[in-house]
Amino acid sequence: MPALSFEGGALTQPLTVVATPDEPILDLVRRCDDLPLSWRCGRGTCGTCAVRVRHPQQPQPLLMSRKERNVLVRHRYLPQSALQRDTFIDSPALWRLACYLTANQPLVISLDPPSSEDVS
Ligand code: FES
Repeated sequence: MPALSFEGGALTQPLTVVATPDEPILDLVRRCDDLPLSWRCGRGTCGTCAVRVRHPQQPQPLLMSRKERNVLVRHRYLPQSALQRDTFIDSPALWRLACYLTANQPLVISLDPPSSEDVS
């Protein structure tokens, strides 16, 4: 059972939740009232659920879906030039959409909003 730690955002201290294997992160958020992760569409289109993620396997190549990439570009979490590629470096600096994440390993999920330096 992977443990997911949430930090930042409206949390005053990190919060760890045990997920079922491969549980979608938004399902976890729906069942845990204490998790202040904002989301709206739940389908990977609105960009509201953007987060940053850390895990022990980083850095590593990441094949991102075109839909996730395009939404991240539209909301300026990735630069326009990202539209030319599908592979990124999975690192703590990379924005992801929680809609596309599952609890397949222990993760630390930052709920901090982007700073002016983070968006392109
Ligand atoms: S909730 Fe809309 S993109 Fe995740």
